[in-house]
Amino acid sequence: LCKVGGRAKTLLVTTGAEAVENAVKIARAYTKRRGIIVFGGAFHGRTLLTMAMTGKVNPYKQSFGPFPGNIYRAPYPDLYRGVSVEHCLSALDTLFESEIEASAVAAIVIEPLLGEGGFIPAPVEFMAGIRR
Ligand SMILES: Cc1ncc(COP(=O)(O)O)c(C=O)c1O
Repeated sequence: LCKVGGRAKTLLVTTGAEAVENAVKIARAYTKRRGIIVFGGAFHGRTLLTMAMTGKVNPYKQSFGPFPGNIYRAPYPDLYRGVSVEHCLSALDTLFESEIEASAVAAIVIEPLLGEGGFIPAPVEFMAGIRR
């Protein structure tokens, strides 16, 4: 991890929260950007950074702040409840206009299948839209 650009390609850790934290560290160190985009309903772990990234207050976050900054949250599509892919991609554009410029984003962290948020799959068009 200390030698970004070196030969190391794998980092073995013991928890999911450590994996997410280190992915953020690697993304920031490599891109030299600060912003991390996450989604509503997401669960990323119980450390301070991963709690900040988690998009569900109860039962994970209440009473535990303040949290680390430069985490930006966008809506996650939920077709069953009427939250469309178009709405969520448009909200990402709004985020880039009102919260953080796209060129300052180090990483977008997403569960392709939202777990704690309700076992909701991200439509393929949403994943493709994010990549675009
Ligand atoms: C999607 C996701 N990310 C991160 C974590 C955190 O993993 P851990 O509890 O091993 O720190 C979990 C745990 O359930 C998870 O489901």
